[in-house]
Amino acid sequence: MKNFQWSVAYVLGYLLCHVVAVYNPVREHSGQTFFDGWSYYGNVDNTTWGNVTFQDQANATSRGLTFVNSAGNAVIKVDNTTTISPAPIVNRDSIRLTSLDSYGLGSLFIIDAVHIPYGCSVWPSFWMYGMEDTWPLAGEIDIIEAINGMTNNQVALHTTPGCFQATNALQTGHTLETNCSKAQGCIVGESKPNSFGPGFAQAGGGVYALVMEPTGVSSWFWSRADIPDDIASATSSSTMDPSSWGTPSASYPSSACDFEQFFPPQNLVLLTTLCGHWAGVPSIYRSTCNTPTNSCINDNIFGNGSNYANAYWEIRYIRTYLNASLAAATTTSASTSPTADPATSDSAQPTKGPSNRTSSALQGVESPMFIGIVSSIIAMLFTSALAMTTW
Ligand SMILES: *[C@@H]1O[C@H](CO)[C@@H](O)[C@H](O)[C@H]1NC(C)=O
Ligand SMILES: *[C@@H]1O[C@H](CO)[C@@H](O)[C@H](O)[C@H]1NC(C)=O
Ligand SMILES: *[C@@H]1O[C@H](CO)[C@@H](O)[C@H](O)[C@H]1NC(C)=O
Ligand SMILES: *[C@@H]1O[C@H](CO)[C@@H](O)[C@H](O)[C@H]1NC(C)=O
Ligand SMILES: *[C@@H]1O[C@H](CO)[C@@H](O)[C@H](O)[C@H]1NC(C)=O
Ligand SMILES: *[C@@H]1O[C@H](CO)[C@@H](O)[C@H](O)[C@H]1NC(C)=O
Ligand SMILES: *[C@@H]1O[C@H](CO)[C@@H](O)[C@H](O)[C@H]1NC(C)=O
Ligand SMILES: *[C@@H]1O[C@H](CO)[C@@H](O)[C@H](O)[C@H]1NC(C)=O
Repeated sequence: MKNFQWSVAYVLGYLLCHVVAVYNPVREHSGQTFFDGWSYYGNVDNTTWGNVTFQDQANATSRGLTFVNSAGNAVIKVDNTTTISPAPIVNRDSIRLTSLDSYGLGSLFIIDAVHIPYGCSVWPSFWMYGMEDTWPLAGEIDIIEAINGMTNNQVALHTTPGCFQATNALQTGHTLETNCSKAQGCIVGESKPNSFGPGFAQAGGGVYALVMEPTGVSSWFWSRADIPDDIASATSSSTMDPSSWGTPSASYPSSACDFEQFFPPQNLVLLTTLCGHWAGVPSIYRSTCNTPTNSCINDNIFGNGSNYANAYWEIRYIRTYLNASLAAATTTSASTSPTADPATSDSAQPTKGPSNRTSSALQGVESPMFIGIVSSIIAMLFTSALAMTTW
């Protein structure tokens, strides 16, 4: 009898650990609906001071700057067909998208891209920040960010003073800065090949994933050929278990940063700017670009735009997930806070506290309630089976 009880306990324990998924899908941005759920900035670059005007949705669509291509992938590009003559103030058209959803701790993000913008003056980024307060009071996490002729991605966190990358972080990337409140943020450089630039594109792109939990932030990169099977074969309704993905490229344990203090809900941002406060700094520009006058603006933004043929994102999907423990809690406790309204720019209503969007976005994707109930039942059986064995 005792053996039987132990077997039951073992089987239920196994189920509890292996059947109950770690992250449930929240939202997929892909294909014809990719551009739903984002606001277009519709303003000049007034945060990183690149020489671009981020178009609104109507202009972006009519000028072919955002569209879904014949492969079903979303393309988000810099204008590469307009001739711009030298003038005191010039801006090339580009795009900045901000997600309408905001995501609290307990979230996982996966982006599968075929192409990331690159080239001299080009500064693409896929990142998130808290919109409930003035930057960087509500934090920023950069998932993809690099410039000019760089060949490796950089992950970074930006916070107010008091958040650091712990010195014992287990990661495959190389730490470039540990103090997250410095202007450049706490940075980890990707060490695997083909994470950015021509190499990324020639390898067929790849996948970036980032987990944001109270216990820490971890991010992974895989070139196309190395994408883990569970991600490569996933559909929009698949659950995810990052514990099988191996050592992350970048890791920020909570031992040196209180994520609950520094990271309220974050909104995703996808953009490409040109020159500006990083790519356009003369010494930085010259370190990876060798152009006729060594001027980021003169040698790139002026002219017919043909040098921006590679300044485009081509994205298969962006998927977001919620920790299954939180998904069950979110669904049962329903709405907890007001949420930002869809808006036409980043000056959208800020969100306060855990997002309500997450719970509404969960509906119709997969029932976290079901998983929650199943896991509770398994847990109950497991506990009673264990209790029986002690008699
Ligand atoms: C959209 O295009 C119109 C017409 O060219 C222009 O007046 C407007 O400023 C553009 N919007 C942005 C955000 O640049
Ligand atoms: C480029 O942008 C910077 C920052 O907005 C601005 O100071 C500068 O005048 C711009 N240069 C041109 C040529 O538009
Ligand atoms: C971290 O950077 C901030 C901003 O530059 C600075 O005020 C602070 O002293 C730094 N902390 C440490 C421990 O270096
Ligand atoms: C665009 O400008 C570049 C550099 O000046 C030149 O090599 C190219 O032929 C031009 N392309 C067209 C279509 O005019
Ligand atoms: C503009 O960029 C696209 C890729 O986004 C490329 O196919 C096209 O040839 C480029 N056009 C010019 C004139 O360089
Ligand atoms: C999911 O959330 C639970 C409850 O906060 C936590 O114990 C668990 O570690 C989280 N999962 C991951 C992968 O961090
Ligand atoms: C950028 O400009 C927009 C439109 O004028 C404004 O609403 C927003 O507050 C500005 N952002 C910053 C960071 O200055
Ligand atoms: C929160 O989301 C639920 C589910 O979509 C919705 O019924 C409710 O009105 C939302 N609450 C607020 C305050 O937006």
